[in-house]
Amino acid sequence: MKISTFKLERFFAAHEFNVKYTLTNSDCEPMSLAELLQLADDESREAWESLKLGYTEYQGAPELRREIARLYSDCTADDVLIAAPEECIFIAMQCLLEKGDHVICTFPGYQSLYELARSMGCEVDLWAPDEGAGWRFDPSFISEHVRPSTRLIVMNFPHNPTGAVLDRASYDTVMNLAAERGITVFSDEIYRFLELDPGLRLPAACDTCDTAVSLFGMSKSFGLAGLRLGWLVTRDRELYDRMGAFKDYTTICSPAPSEILSLIALRARETILGGNLACIGRNLSKLDEFFERREGLLSWNAPAGGSIALVRLHGERTSPEFCSDVLERTGVLILPSTAFDYGEKHFRIGFGRDDMPEALAMLDEYLDSSL
Ligand SMILES: Cc1ncc(COP(=O)(O)O)c(C=O)c1O
Repeated sequence: MKISTFKLERFFAAHEFNVKYTLTNSDCEPMSLAELLQLADDESREAWESLKLGYTEYQGAPELRREIARLYSDCTADDVLIAAPEECIFIAMQCLLEKGDHVICTFPGYQSLYELARSMGCEVDLWAPDEGAGWRFDPSFISEHVRPSTRLIVMNFPHNPTGAVLDRASYDTVMNLAAERGITVFSDEIYRFLELDPGLRLPAACDTCDTAVSLFGMSKSFGLAGLRLGWLVTRDRELYDRMGAFKDYTTICSPAPSEILSLIALRARETILGGNLACIGRNLSKLDEFFERREGLLSWNAPAGGSIALVRLHGERTSPEFCSDVLERTGVLILPSTAFDYGEKHFRIGFGRDDMPEALAMLDEYLDSSL
């Protein structure tokens, strides 16, 4: 398999674990094992303590899938297939696409959402938002670009990296168009439940349409990326069975400890998500104030959901130059938009972490000293 370098992942591989601060991570504050276990109910604590480290069921533990199904309105535990989030994207693309298929995918974005299709010989049209209109994704792009060979629409809301959330009317337009034309929707919902206004939360695509596939997992909203646990949900039985069988060539089954720990987290979801949203709220008010003060040099469209936003850098400097100078002089890591192949005038900022105010203060000091 020939595939282009995953630029964002290579950037993090080079820097993430040897910098003082990361001001660009997309996950919420990671929980410790001790903190998570404190939230366990009696049944799941007992399951954790008596856990055997053998193989697990390929679809995922039934109790975990039942808990996951509670996040959806029209899907059941039988519609849930557990795998690592990135693995879920890999499995779904391999099972949905063939050479020559046409794909429409939100952009800029998490590279595997469109790169896997390209690597399989598919043609991909990139659906980009309008920065001047608050990162609005116009659904007419889809009707203008759809072709007889369009097999898949890939979307990701809340969106990495802009923090945009599609409005409900546009979502309905996309879902209806896909249903009318027999196009499958793959909806990456990995930042779900981090909508700043719960009224903006879109339905899960797997609930809206019986052929759509939704992706979610523990990495971002729950701050449990180290569990490496996510899931695909679809009511399309034939596709579900093929994706389940494909997993025999990836991980076969998920790690037993991660399954129990995910069950504990899902049962404590109100506490965990509430804590993460509170942290995001605190950080966003600091960022609002920061961008107001730095107007002229930096600007942003405040996000509608998720834990990241895309910031525009005004002036002469490119964002790779800016980010590497910030890193060198302060030890604060920021991701330039070149990692998304999205020009040289933006960078991504992350605000799901407890230490964001310290990292932001260092960036502030840097800006004072470099102006
Ligand atoms: C939109 C999106 N989808 C999927 C993933 C993959 O999640 P994970 O890194 O937990 O495999 C990410 C990670 O950054 C992401 O941003």
